Amino acid sequence: MSTLNEEIQRRRTFAIISHPDAGKTTLTEKLLLFGGAIHIAGAVKSNKIKKTATSDWMEIEKQRGISVATSVMGFNYGQYKINILDTPGHQDFAEDTYRTLTAVDSVIIVVDVAKGVEQQTRKLMEVCRMRNTPVIIFVNKLDREGRDPFEILDELEAELKIAVRPLSWPINIGAKFKGVYNIYEHSLDLFTPNKQRVSERVEIDNVDDPRIDDAVGATDAAKLREDLELIEGVYPEFDQEAYREGIVAPVFFGSALNTFGVKELLDCFVQIAPAPKPVMAEEREVTPEEEAFSGFVFKIHANMDPNHRSCIAFVKVCSGKFERNAPYLHIRSGKSLRFAAPTAFMAQKKSIVDEAYPGDIVGIPDTGTFKIGDTLTSGEKLHYRGLPSFSPEMFKYIENSDPMKSKQLEKGLQQLMDEGVAQLFVNQFNGRKIVGTVGQLQFEVIQYRLLHEYGAQCRWEPLSMYKACWIESDDKEALDAFKKRKYQFMATDRDGRDVFMADSGYVLQMAQNDFPKLKFHFSSEF
Ligand code: G4P
Repeated sequence: MSTLNEEIQRRRTFAIISHPDAGKTTLTEKLLLFGGAIHIAGAVKSNKIKKTATSDWMEIEKQRGISVATSVMGFNYGQYKINILDTPGHQDFAEDTYRTLTAVDSVIIVVDVAKGVEQQTRKLMEVCRMRNTPVIIFVNKLDREGRDPFEILDELEAELKIAVRPLSWPINIGAKFKGVYNIYEHSLDLFTPNKQRVSERVEIDNVDDPRIDDAVGATDAAKLREDLELIEGVYPEFDQEAYREGIVAPVFFGSALNTFGVKELLDCFVQIAPAPKPVMAEEREVTPEEEAFSGFVFKIHANMDPNHRSCIAFVKVCSGKFERNAPYLHIRSGKSLRFAAPTAFMAQKKSIVDEAYPGDIVGIPDTGTFKIGDTLTSGEKLHYRGLPSFSPEMFKYIENSDPMKSKQLEKGLQQLMDEGVAQLFVNQFNGRKIVGTVGQLQFEVIQYRLLHEYGAQCRWEPLSMYKACWIESDDKEALDAFKKRKYQFMATDRDGRDVFMADSGYVLQMAQNDFPKLKFHFSSEF
């Protein structure tokens, strides 16, 4: 029998994030191959909506279906239990990704060697930085022509605002790519382009070993030694603590498609990445080793079948042991609930589990009990926080197109918002409902799902808005004065908080200048 502490220490729960097309799906798949969770390449393929299709409903449905299966991919690797939390590839679902990042203990960022740091990676890194999430970077597609690795390192540092430390180093790139030197383990892996096979390892003692010259030729061996010397001179020695605090990001180079550099990444990852960490609740810090179970809902997934309006709530276990059929307190409703059919996700299969440990994700069938951010405990009144809403980027008024179905619309909208599909605001002046999203596709998904799952019809009316900011002030008079001045632009979020809807960057700037006693927040976590 293993102890709770042993179970915690062997868990590694993380997400892979990237700009679309950098190779996240491919890398995920290769990690699953090493874990024996799948047996052939191509099994995880494309859990993303084709980037060109904006209103291809079949694709959206397919994505929702596949992503339940691949939402959490658990597998054993050596002594470790690994949980990979999937994040949607399409940037219009970025909000889902932000929330998933609240449930991981570390992340791996995939960057395309030719493209460098792209927009979405930059945004996701901001979320990691807010939470001091440890980050490992995998520079992918070394088999293709790309940028100079030193240049990539500089860009990673500048754009992602994190110190970097290479733990592997490529020998050439593109057509001349010969392999990587593993700085962490002092070994050399030669590149053999082959999608199914693991790279060939050359046994060496250290960087001066003449076997390197035999393997890659004297010129490339000399260049490698020169590069490594430069690295040792420029970058401080790898410091695991600094990595775990989110201060420095180790960098690996490889080619996911060719399964190259992936095993090295995984082997190092399981050693250095953190096991589940203490989590801050509003009341206190909760450590995973505590006996009493606690966890929170970070994602709710609607059923594919529109005739069954059931969902799966994804609960991240934060402390203690989760047990099937045990009574747990649902903090928001104050009710005691038992779960007869909780599921775990192993090797891409969903099956009923009797117990789960900190770091694990449990899927709980739900018919509308849960909301994103809900806390479950063995009895203690705890509120986990840290599920911020960010200011949406696009806003539209939502209007009912079928007066006979206003109840259905109300209910559907409510549940979709509970699932976290988008954010709802109500204008304090005219009472109109405003839906805020990060992308056009979400409006289409909402409209489609309202119709197919709730029989409600809605239409969108344009609204030109720049940002929603949560406002607060210690000075009630100043707050009231602001609300009076901006009464047409004041809205209320779902928790009843005041939100200022700024219609341009200029207006926002002016408001900030004119009301210095007010604080303007761009995420709901403050
Ligand atoms: P994503 O999830 O981050 O969006 O990326 P994905 O893994 O789907 O990879 C995007 C494209 O890049 C895919 O090609 C994939 O095969 C390719 N790719 C991934 N890793 C490497 C690599 O190491 N080297 C090279 N040369 N290509 C790589 P695609 O043509 O879009 O898809 P497919 O038809 O190959 O499936």
